[in-house]
Amino acid sequence: MTSSADTAPLILALSKGRIFKDTLPLLTHAGIVPLDDPETTRKLILDTNHPGIKLLILRASDVPTYVQYGAADIGVAGKDVLMEHGGDGLFELLDLNIARCKLMVAGRPGCLDRPGRLRVATKFVHSAECFFAEQGRQIELIKLYGSMELAPLVDLADCIVDVVDTGNTLRANGLEPLLHMADISSRLIVNRAAYKLKHGAIAALAAHLSDYLNKAAPAP
Ligand code: ATP
Ligand code: PRP
Repeated sequence: MTSSADTAPLILALSKGRIFKDTLPLLTHAGIVPLDDPETTRKLILDTNHPGIKLLILRASDVPTYVQYGAADIGVAGKDVLMEHGGDGLFELLDLNIARCKLMVAGRPGCLDRPGRLRVATKFVHSAECFFAEQGRQIELIKLYGSMELAPLVDLADCIVDVVDTGNTLRANGLEPLLHMADISSRLIVNRAAYKLKHGAIAALAAHLSDYLNKAAPAP
């Protein structure tokens, strides 16, 4: 007998931009094709060619919240965002190895040598707090929502905590990566209750994604 949980669609939360772009080949490998392009449609719930799978299009930092509360069953979120969220009510099923970057402290050379409380501008306030506490360094946190690189240039902060990939944004603004905090990639996250109730559908999707990742992994 099939329960209603087995027949209810599987809801996958994604953000548009780099995560959607990098997740698309994985979904294609699993036979899932969105019927609209999130970059052009204004729809926030996208149907797919698979009647049992729908996509929610969210801000990247909201993905764990939708999964935590069960509004989405599964999602794709950067480890940076997961570290900030804390992970309540969800777990990481797979490292998708996409949207790779590093979470770093950055600033002008020598900015960390300043005595006393360091002014740190970031949207990653929880990660920054934990990192500097472990280092035994007193900080003043300045919460920003983007363009963190600007803060040291206008003396809003001594340094920033942000993700760094090529380093081009730091270089273009006369800043340097100074301390490595974490290697970041995007993870497939799952709501704990949904993992039990929709286990068949989630396990099947995860198996397709794992297969793609194993094929894509460079030979040892
Ligand atoms: P929000 O819209 O919620 O503020 P965001 O603007 O950081 O989030 P994206 O820029 O789409 O969202 O980034 C999504 C994820 O991609 C990040 O959480 C991070 O894990 C990763 N990421 C961010 N910047 C880069 C980058 N320059 N190179 C590679 N990966 C990145
Ligand atoms: C991210 C991040 C940095 C930049 C780092 O910004 O906030 O500014 O990428 O990448 P790089 O080391 O390759 O230069 P993003 O491009 O996502 O812009 P946004 O956060 O302002 O949306």
